Amino acid sequence: MVARPTLIATVRRARRLEGEVTLPGDKSISHRALMLGAIASGESRFRGLSTGADVRSTADCIRALGVEVSESAVRGVGMHGLRRPAGALECGNSGTTMRLLAGLLSAQPFTCELRGDDSLTARPMDRVVTPLREMGAAASWPPLVVGGRLPLRGIDYVMPMASAQVKSAVLLAGLFAGGRTTVVEPIATRNHTELMLHAMGASVAVDGRHVQVSPADRLSALDIEIPGDLSAASFWLVASGLAPHARIRIRNAGTNPTRMKFIELLRSVGIAVAVEGARTTGGESVGDLSVGTAHALRPVTINGATAAEMIDELPVLAVAATQLPGTSRITGAAELRVKESDRIAAMTEGLAAMGANITALDDGWVITGPRHLEGARVRSHRDHRVAMALAVAGLLADGTTEIDDAECVDISYPGFFDQLESLC
Ligand code: S3P
Repeated sequence: MVARPTLIATVRRARRLEGEVTLPGDKSISHRALMLGAIASGESRFRGLSTGADVRSTADCIRALGVEVSESAVRGVGMHGLRRPAGALECGNSGTTMRLLAGLLSAQPFTCELRGDDSLTARPMDRVVTPLREMGAAASWPPLVVGGRLPLRGIDYVMPMASAQVKSAVLLAGLFAGGRTTVVEPIATRNHTELMLHAMGASVAVDGRHVQVSPADRLSALDIEIPGDLSAASFWLVASGLAPHARIRIRNAGTNPTRMKFIELLRSVGIAVAVEGARTTGGESVGDLSVGTAHALRPVTINGATAAEMIDELPVLAVAATQLPGTSRITGAAELRVKESDRIAAMTEGLAAMGANITALDDGWVITGPRHLEGARVRSHRDHRVAMALAVAGLLADGTTEIDDAECVDISYPGFFDQLESLC
């Protein structure tokens, strides 16, 4: 089904998709486990840390700050034990690494430069620099340089955009500030930082869209099982919901309520996703997912609030919309333009090349379906989620789809194409 030379993945129509999926560890939780584990007291242990390149970037940065890190443990150095790195910290392609570390490192007595690849260098960092400066930190961009000016003061920050990365950066700096720090979100975003801080003994209070953290003297070490990444599962959910003869079972997916909007949306368009075996680990909920036969499919309309809650799932939602009868409108998602690629443009280009009826808006797409897709040569724009979304489109298309620079899936899902092959 899938041939995989170094750079181009070849995907053909799925006549059948069957089997069990192994998800990578949740990327968001993995980053936080490494960073918070680094400033905890004692050794934190993890099972299921993401092996993706983004989380490897965080691990390398933490190591450069003088912390011992392995795949399954971090030896915490305490709140004031990080050491000045020998050079700039390399964040690779990872926005989460750069933004969360900017918060943590703005509260250190030394200065750090945070660098990224071409994609990350082009992404907006003023969104973290502005609140950190308000806290009294030294922070400038571009290039992103933080830290070396203390003390920080707690602030009340009303975030102009929905971003868990910005919220988390401010909360991490807030751990070191004098007085409490409150972040007010326009829309409640993923709350992994809050849950983990709470599990480590920090004082975090959440009241709707208001999140408050108090300064902390110490964080307890973690011992957690990191759930499978629900955003990685989204590709299989769409493939399983729309391909013929599909029966995919996904074990141990994180089902944190702040990440579940996409599953609710799939159900609302006629793709029945079941969650079984619900349980909790380290404050995070987990379950096994399966998809029933799709029936009475209908188009989707989503706006800003909903878009923000499933921002990473929108590329594959665009693929699904090509198969839904009627006109789907996905709006309020201008943030997609400043992700690892301009995802609105990248998905429009790829799906249009495959025959979809798709129009790009400034903040989303209008997509009319169902449309017969034809395999084509498409570009991932070196964006892992674009590559995987186009692979799902390839499973639903006639002929052969070739995806350029497909190795970028390694950012969040090493082994994605092997997994795909094993299901066909
Ligand atoms: C993430 C937050 C989101 C998401 C990213 C991971 C996080 O980014 O797109 O993949 O771990 O906090 P934004 O905060 O920029 O929306």
